[in-house]
Amino acid sequence: MYHLHVFPDGNSLIDELAQKVISIAQSSLQQHDVFTMALAGGSTPRPLYNLLGSQSYRRQIDWAHTHIFWGDERCVQPDHPDSNFRMTRLALLDQISIPASNVHRIKGELDPHSACDDYHAQLKAVFGNDLPRFDIIMLGMGDDGHTASLFPHSAALAEQKRWVVPNYVESMDFWRITLTYPVINNARNVIFVVVGESKSRALNRVLSGPSDPKQYPSQAVLPSDGNLHWFVDEAAASRLQNT
Ligand code: 6PG
Repeated sequence: MYHLHVFPDGNSLIDELAQKVISIAQSSLQQHDVFTMALAGGSTPRPLYNLLGSQSYRRQIDWAHTHIFWGDERCVQPDHPDSNFRMTRLALLDQISIPASNVHRIKGELDPHSACDDYHAQLKAVFGNDLPRFDIIMLGMGDDGHTASLFPHSAALAEQKRWVVPNYVESMDFWRITLTYPVINNARNVIFVVVGESKSRALNRVLSGPSDPKQYPSQAVLPSDGNLHWFVDEAAASRLQNT
């Protein structure tokens, strides 16, 4: 079961999504004094991060009690143009006052296995020994149906125990670090943000097509005890049938 939210364009989507994030943050802080969010990389969420960091929004989240993680990271230096951390730092982190100890960067500059060990330790420091249960995991989706760094037919799709793994993407010859399905599907709220006509074929296959999660990894994002939201624009939704 998922909640599909379709918007005329990216701007109207981002405004509503910012309100959604703020409302979840405020109720999480009321219920358990902390708000945990894993952010998506790529380019689609950047306007959302800009908005959350803007003058009119940034004071609506208690950043001192918020822990920011990432769903995945490229294996690059944190100041590399491809770094998801760099994108988020420029769009959001540099605009807000959040304790450095609340920002949990995936250290893409380390060898992939050391980066995973380090990130696992950061997750344990916040969530303890139990499977992490994020208040929000924000996800994008590629035009091939991947999400986080869970790419079609890649080894990470099969991981059912570890919380974070390295993932070699043969077709593009690069290493990534990614949260795994057990963590993603344990979140209280998973929010996909998908914009643009280029995503329309994959979105239709993921939401309306036959089950084929090895080919369309976003299909296997099904929170076991949480809400699944798809925030999409009309262009991305243009091929959706009877959803
Ligand atoms: C990444 C993301 C990845 C991204 C999709 C969509 O590190 O690139 O985690 O899963 O969300 O590739 O990317 P765009 O938003 O740039 O289309």
